[in-house]
Amino acid sequence: MSIEITVGQTEYFPFTGKIPYEGSDSPNHLAFKYYDESRLVGGKSMKEHLRFAVCYWHTFCWGGGDPFGSSTRQLPWSTSGDPLRAAKDKLDAAFEFFSKLGVPYYTFHDRDMAPEGGTLEDSERHLRELVALAQEKQAASGVKLLWGTSNLFSHPRYMNGAATNPDFAVLTQAAAQIKAALEATVELGGENYVFWGGREGYGTLLNTDMKREREHSAQFFRLARDYGRSIGFNGTFLIEPKPMEPMKHQYDHDAATTIQFLNEFDLQDDFKLNVEANHATLAGHTFAHDLQVASDAGLLGSMDANRGDAQNGWDTDQFPTNLYDTIEAMLIILDNGGLPGGINFDAKIRRNSVDLDDLFIAHIGGMDTFARGLLIAHELREKSDLLKLKQDRYASYNTGAGARFEAGSLSLGDLRDLAVKQGEPQSISGKQELYENIINQYIR
Ligand code: XUL
Ligand code: CO
Repeated sequence: MSIEITVGQTEYFPFTGKIPYEGSDSPNHLAFKYYDESRLVGGKSMKEHLRFAVCYWHTFCWGGGDPFGSSTRQLPWSTSGDPLRAAKDKLDAAFEFFSKLGVPYYTFHDRDMAPEGGTLEDSERHLRELVALAQEKQAASGVKLLWGTSNLFSHPRYMNGAATNPDFAVLTQAAAQIKAALEATVELGGENYVFWGGREGYGTLLNTDMKREREHSAQFFRLARDYGRSIGFNGTFLIEPKPMEPMKHQYDHDAATTIQFLNEFDLQDDFKLNVEANHATLAGHTFAHDLQVASDAGLLGSMDANRGDAQNGWDTDQFPTNLYDTIEAMLIILDNGGLPGGINFDAKIRRNSVDLDDLFIAHIGGMDTFARGLLIAHELREKSDLLKLKQDRYASYNTGAGARFEAGSLSLGDLRDLAVKQGEPQSISGKQELYENIINQYIR
């Protein structure tokens, strides 16, 4: 189904209709240069390969405030003094934006879409009301929900954690929120459900029983999974690793730590990973590293696309415009046989990008960078010797004693005897510069 433009009572982005694809020579800033959704790449359309999603929070909820200053932008859909009215206006703006941009998916936290009420029951009612409206918007536009999630980090009650809070009373509040957010996700046909444990970690081990907190968090995940399955959620639960910020240390530190957690608590059949670029770099890895770790474990579920800043040690959440990053990411995704989830722009425009068209420009840039990354990665796989060079480095394990080692049929003593027989190995170049040159050769 193609995406239909949906405009509510107010048109919030009157300066553009549906963003067209105009090719790489177009001078039009509100046009795609590379993302041509129906273009086939290796038998699959770009739309199917990339499965883009726009996130609700950075795009429609954040006006540019940072720890040192207030909002810099007026969000025209947030001017009503009535929080429920404002939430409905925001929904209108969001679906106008999704459909004009032509993305197949969106993502949201419960509190992005519906305001917290005075009581738990009020909050649940607000969410149900907005979800019913979102359902209509989805049906009219054809835009679908990639994943829902729950904000268990903004409210002051979560300052010591949500599922890992030392106070059981706070854990029950978190459980109530997850229950409602799972119901919302099922109502909206969400394909995945995300957990990002922003406050699930610690400030100091002096006041923290880490073992108990991790066990609580595993039990919490089990209960969420069981409830989700009981109400008909057939999608994938995703955990989004991040090493720190807001906590000094977060339990879902990086892909490897999170996979270990899933295996330790036997959750690997229902849970996969949502790998975010800037979270991987905060953990001291590259984006590609965490994607590869997740893919190798068969647990690459989805991706939050953004970019950090090499000079800053925090989550700057910039739009992904670095072609090298997207080429590497797409090489791994193609190797993975595709991305089961999608590419969610968990990215925000800069605080001084104060024009409404900056929201479009930023997403167009991110989508074009991934589309170009896809085209180049596909060509590299089809035409260059990049993959073969890598495979050939391991050729000595393909036959003979190397193959017997891989099959587990050689002992340490056997290896020692082979070492004596074969003598000192030849020196073999790793050829990193050649691999890098090949990537550059295909950026054209
Ligand atoms: C925070 C972050 C979250 C999750 C969803 O760094 O990435 O927005 O994606 O809670
Ligand atoms: Co994220």
